[in-house]
Amino acid sequence: MRNLLALSVVALFALSALAQENKEGVTKKKYGNMPDATQVDEYTLTNKNGMTMKVITLGGIVTEMHVPDKDGKFADVCLGCSNLAEYLEGHPYFGAITGRVANRIAKGKFTLGGKEYTLATNNGPNHLHGGKIGFDKVIWTGTIYRTEGAQSLMLQYRSKDGEEGYPGNLSVTVRYILTDKNEWRIEYSATTDKATPINLTQHAYFNLAGHSSGTILDHQVKINADKYTPTDDTLIPTGKIEPVKGTPNDFTTPTAIGKRIKDIKADPQGYDLNFVLNGKAGELREIAVVTEPKSGRVMKVSTTEPGVQFYTGNFLDGKQKGKGGVKYSQYGGFCLETQHYPDSINQKGFPSVVLEPGKKYMHTTVYSFGVAK
Ligand code: GLA
Repeated sequence: MRNLLALSVVALFALSALAQENKEGVTKKKYGNMPDATQVDEYTLTNKNGMTMKVITLGGIVTEMHVPDKDGKFADVCLGCSNLAEYLEGHPYFGAITGRVANRIAKGKFTLGGKEYTLATNNGPNHLHGGKIGFDKVIWTGTIYRTEGAQSLMLQYRSKDGEEGYPGNLSVTVRYILTDKNEWRIEYSATTDKATPINLTQHAYFNLAGHSSGTILDHQVKINADKYTPTDDTLIPTGKIEPVKGTPNDFTTPTAIGKRIKDIKADPQGYDLNFVLNGKAGELREIAVVTEPKSGRVMKVSTTEPGVQFYTGNFLDGKQKGKGGVKYSQYGGFCLETQHYPDSINQKGFPSVVLEPGKKYMHTTVYSFGVAK
């Protein structure tokens, strides 16, 4: 009898610990230490429906995102690593904030205010995602703050003048807001003291069937873009803006990712392309809908940005260590990185990525989760 009582007390404690974990709110704990001993924290955001996301202060990386399916069953739909050591070993920007300039800058060079700047070439002949130590590899300061109907975390980083070769001290704030409507809302803002290019995005890899469930080739994708920016074979735009109609890039009606992927002339084969979004940049409008047929999960994307890089995990090769010992294979996840067009700083015909002192960079993107009706 006494044993039974003791057992039920233990069970009660375990249950309440579980309830605590799934409780609406934001909690913070230590995630690990960087090689120089800087502490990395982990924040867990849980909304009133039990949807949970975990974020670490290294790169503002979203390490987990638990989303319900059509039967209310939760799965972690974001690819990532198991722990800090694995993130530090290297990974292809899983769940991270990328910048100062996300995507590519041709030959790592640009001219601004009559001065030529040289950046790291860390992707063949080009500069990618902010250079050697881009915003995905720095430690952000996290602050929990109160919002109505949502759980919110503010991440801040001050990028020094000259960091990774870019001009100006840049103060960046990225807010992750998990609403009770199962939306992950991201609000970016930044100011500078010298003119600088800036292009911030979130590099989350999604697999709406669950991060370890194989390829995303059967996900149905709709992208509200009649045009795209064709590239050379190093993925730098040629400067032309061409219609998607009649190409494998036409996602104006829902189409399985795998349907025409073999028609793409690229090595490795797959989508890694900037779409010129319909509608007015600066206004928050729906730009994409992705449906996973088996789970019924649907993700809608809205943004204020003019473009989106649609990337289908072409470079994943089964070697990358993932959560729970999973090895992510090619097409194991997809990204919809809302942003300005690649290499905009060198392309006169593209919307400008230059932020001037006294002006504010602003960008809002919302990933909204639901189920197919
Ligand atoms: C972006 C790029 C891809 C690739 C990934 C990271 O999406 O466009 O070419 O570099 O990042 O692997």
